[in-house]
Amino acid sequence: MSTKTQEIVKVYGKSKATDHYLSPSRRDAVKVNWEEPFSCMVYRKAIEQTEYRLGNSLEVLDIGSGTGDGISLLTSKLMKESGLNLDDDIDYLGIDICQDMCETARSIHSHRNYVRFLQGDIRQSLPDEAFKLYLSCGVPYSHLTPAELQIALQNIFENIRRHNTRSAVVVDVLGKYSIEWVSKWNLSRWDYRMNFFQSDGEADFTPMSFYSAQELNQLIHEAAAQANCKLSNIEFFDRSVMVGRHTSTGEFTPNLSRYRNLVNSLMDVDCTTDFEQLMFDVQLGEAPAEIIDFFKTFQGWWNQLIREAAILCGETVHGCESTLPTEFQGLTKELKESLDNSQVENIRASIIEPILAKYLHNLEVSTQKGLGVGHTLMALVSVDQS
Ligand SMILES: C[S@@+](CC[C@H](N)C(=O)[O-])C[C@H]1O[C@@H](n2cnc3c(N)ncnc32)[C@H](O)[C@@H]1O
Repeated sequence: MSTKTQEIVKVYGKSKATDHYLSPSRRDAVKVNWEEPFSCMVYRKAIEQTEYRLGNSLEVLDIGSGTGDGISLLTSKLMKESGLNLDDDIDYLGIDICQDMCETARSIHSHRNYVRFLQGDIRQSLPDEAFKLYLSCGVPYSHLTPAELQIALQNIFENIRRHNTRSAVVVDVLGKYSIEWVSKWNLSRWDYRMNFFQSDGEADFTPMSFYSAQELNQLIHEAAAQANCKLSNIEFFDRSVMVGRHTSTGEFTPNLSRYRNLVNSLMDVDCTTDFEQLMFDVQLGEAPAEIIDFFKTFQGWWNQLIREAAILCGETVHGCESTLPTEFQGLTKELKESLDNSQVENIRASIIEPILAKYLHNLEVSTQKGLGVGHTLMALVSVDQS
């Protein structure tokens, strides 16, 4: 086993990551109500780009499959609610470098007969089979250096060519310009710590790669060119702009408001949330103009929604008013209507805050442009070699 492989296996060994991935507390309200629906929206788009049609088989290769979150999401209620019931159609193969992860995944998903987990290193080779969807979730590609990622993607594009499929590739990496690590915005690969793991011991630092959309786009095109494969389309998505896991640890920006905890609190009908803490008040670093512009606009709108909720609670928050575009307006009106019809005791925690959370969520999802400003940057690459 190479030193690099040993490092990854050490990070994801049984007592640490596996525990984390199996812990019920990992699925907090943000994950369930914000992150998973967003991922499923991208997966649905991805599946639409393939030659899969209901009743056919959808062959999926899940890269860095861990304990098999990919198969859980693809067959989740969220996908079924949008009309994609893949239970009978899916033929899923998860590949992961860590044997512990594969064993755990096999036991978790033993009730599914269309699921396999294979121990393997995507930097070396891929299973020589046809897949319509090359999935990744939970930023597995960020473990690789950019050069290794290019080779891994080249292998995927070559596989698509060899098997003459119309396929989609979801490339899931860490966003370079997340508010979680402003002090690292000038770096592309640095020692990251997953200290949100639910384990007793200290989490290890491990080198991870971070991307802007521009950098990832270039790398994907180079990989495709090397594989002599023409891309039909490429689209980028930012997931978790305000609520990345490290907004609850403060690991890389100690004075950052604990936004993920605060948003979880908004959705908890038994908790009252500190609106002042929830205001977007982040010292930005140096970044390309489009990144700074994005955050400046986002800040005004995010804070305006909080201000409207605060006013109804008889509070004031700092900063000046800003005008919301029509599609994000309506919070004050909806809150007033809900309050008129309500008999509950703790109006703030049970009505105002969950409605505010809904508006903030809509803002995050609708304004993201796929720049690399979220915890996760997702690329959806469509390739037609059929
Ligand atoms: C953060 S976890 C994500 C797991 C899972 N996809 C999820 O969403 O829960 C990243 C996974 O990538 C795997 N991984 C890292 N480098 C890899 C490589 N070179 N080949 C295959 N798997 C790798 C790790 O072992 C780990 O299970």
